[in-house]
Parts: sequence; C-alpha cells; structure tokens
Amino acid sequence: MEIIRTVKELKELVNNAKAQGKTVGLVPTMGALHAGHVSLIERARCENGYVVVSVFVNPTQFNNPDDLKTYPRTEEADCAKLSAAGVDIAFIPSVEEIYPEPDTRVFDLGPVAEVMEGAMRPGHFNGVAQIVSKLFEMVEPDRAYFGEKDFQQIAVIRRMVELCGFNLEIVDCPICREEDGLALSSRNVRLTPGQRQTAPAIHRTLVSSLDFAKEHSVDETIEFVTEKINSYPEMEVEYYEIVDPLTMQPVKQWKNGVVGCVTVYCGDVRLIDNIKYAF
Ligand code: PAF
Repeated sequence: MEIIRTVKELKELVNNAKAQGKTVGLVPTMGALHAGHVSLIERARCENGYVVVSVFVNPTQFNNPDDLKTYPRTEEADCAKLSAAGVDIAFIPSVEEIYPEPDTRVFDLGPVAEVMEGAMRPGHFNGVAQIVSKLFEMVEPDRAYFGEKDFQQIAVIRRMVELCGFNLEIVDCPICREEDGLALSSRNVRLTPGQRQTAPAIHRTLVSSLDFAKEHSVDETIEFVTEKINSYPEMEVEYYEIVDPLTMQPVKQWKNGVVGCVTVYCGDVRLIDNIKYAF
C-alpha cells in the first residue's frame, strides 16, 4: 500500500493502474476507520482491480466547529487497517492540498438536500458535494462506495453526480452493526460507557417499530419511536422522519420501501440510524 499526500502523485499512480487495464474503486472516508469502512473496502476490493481509500476530515461539511475539533483522528491505526484490508492507495491529503483556494461552489442539490440533515446542518451537504466531486475529479473511479447509515447522503451524492455528469457507479452498502445493534460510527468512541450501554436502544426501537407500523399510521409510528427513544436517559431525538427512499421527502401514508431516518443526541454525541419498512 502507498500512502499518498499529494494530488499529483495520486493521479500518477491511478493513471498507471488504468493503463494496466485495472478498474478503480474509490472509498471516501473521514478516517477513524471501523469495521463498517472495512466492509466498503472489501466490496471495492472484490469489484475492482485497484482500490483507493481517501482519509480526509473535510472541514467544509462541518457546520459546527466543535464537531470538527472533536472528530476522532487516528491516522496510524487507520493506515494499519487499510494495509491489512489490501488497499492500493491510502490518500491522506492536507486541507491545503485539497483546498488551495476556498471552494466557493454552490451545488443545486434540490429537495433531497433540503430535509432532515439538510435542514439541521446548513451547508453540510454542499460541503459533502464539494469534497466528493473533487475526489471524483482526481481519481475518476469506475465505482465509489458509501455506507447506508448516511442514507440521505447517498441520495445527495447521486444528485451531485447527475448535476456534474460524472460517469461512475455509486455503490451503496448495508449498515454494519455492533452485536447489540448499534450502528457502527466513528463517533461511537466518544460515548461514555453508560451512553454506550444505552445507545443500542436506537436500533432496538426502530426494529420494534416495524411491527407497530403494521397496525398504526405513519404519524403514530413517528410518535412511538420518538417517545420511546426519549424515555432513555441521556437520549434525545432530534428528528424521526419516514421518507420516500428516492426523493427523501416525508410520506404521509405507508408504502413499501419507505425508510425511517433518525438522529439522536446521546449526551453531546450525535448518532444517526435508519430502517426500511416493507409491507
Ligand atoms: O460519510 C463520510 O464519511 C463523509 O461525508 C464523506 C463521504 C467521506 C465525505 O467527506
């Protein structure tokens, strides 16, 4: 595995691999890697001849300076995981390398980016579109891999791909969970032992809402999930929305394949999760 810090070297190596007829898979990450990231890398490894993983805590997608400051940074451990996972390039650039000038691009991301995370974290998705589009321009991958924990992010990235005319496949990969159901997240390391014990109630509640939904309306189900999670110490739901899986718009009536998306503050750690309803 090569650890690369400049765009110039990145492009040289990727172009060499392409000249050898290899397809290129890109896994964009912000580091603090866990088994969820490794599952994306394994999928990329299976489907491509060459795998690039970027590790970059992208400042333009953080609307909260404290969140940016406290975001875990574990470069040494990340490199060990990437090397063990058989990655070809770990691309670990500085902020100056990615943004030699401030990125002033504003993407017309439309309705998919206006609700939920878009409403709660102004500018967040524009920042995601900035970094992901830059990475796509640099690597020109055949496929790029994203985890379904950030369900809305995938819809926003698909919209950005359409706007910019990138020719690549976006591959969405299932959420990885701890044995007790907690969705893997780089932020989990910030939970206190007590919060860590409580946090699996998020997924447990979402699962129990699948049965509840069979006999109740969408609004009643939203109330059920919100009240149940809020009843645990230190947990507070920021939003629970049940949305169309393509448009991300809240639905009023049940239909097959709608997705419940939740954000919960567990102490000051912001956790997200989601679940699909099948009827
Ligand atoms: O999901 C993430 O970790 C980030 O939003 C991404 C896609 C790597 C862009 O910085």
